[in-house]
Amino acid sequence: MKLRTLLTCCALAASGAALADSAVSPIYGVSLPDGYRHWELIAPAVEAAPLNELRTVLGNDKAIQAYQSGQVPFPDGTVLVKLAWKHVPSPEFDPASIPGAATTVQVMVKDAKRYAATGGWGFGRFINGKPADEAQHQTCFACHQAKVQNHDYVFTRFAP
Ligand code: HEC
Repeated sequence: MKLRTLLTCCALAASGAALADSAVSPIYGVSLPDGYRHWELIAPAVEAAPLNELRTVLGNDKAIQAYQSGQVPFPDGTVLVKLAWKHVPSPEFDPASIPGAATTVQVMVKDAKRYAATGGWGFGRFINGKPADEAQHQTCFACHQAKVQNHDYVFTRFAP
């Protein structure tokens, strides 16, 4: 009886772990952070082509403090989240734009030791809450490294 309880417990724990694992990005093991939708705005962004998206970049408290004090490189524990939507004209007022369907949520997590090979950043890209494939994650650091190595691999500056 006791053994059976033990087995049930551990089988459940194992399946729980498997579920958690499937929600993390390949290569980096980054997950969607809890409560990010309530984080503070760092800046909006627009991508004209080819994706035609409206975007916003949000940060956790560590990120906001670092931005406010101009701390670069960002400290361990910094998390940046970029939300993106299709850019569509407002049905109520033509010249205005509104966010259409959500496309991706992208995450960068700073942990200098764990992610030493990629400038201290772990990357995650999520579509409908699920991590994108490994091939997509192979592109993240290359672009950030090529363009913004001088700003700790982070593009977004605090909106004035
Ligand atoms: C071809 C270049 C390119 C690639 C590839 C790329 N990014 Fe970015 N990323 C950008 C640019 C440019 C921004 C600035 C915001 C914007 O314009 O959307 C950005 C912003 C971000 C931000 C907000 C912090 C910052 O640096 O401004 C996160 C988080 C992010 N990217 C995650 C990712 C992830 C995860 C991947 C891989 C799946 C990835 N990026 C791949 C160009 C790229």
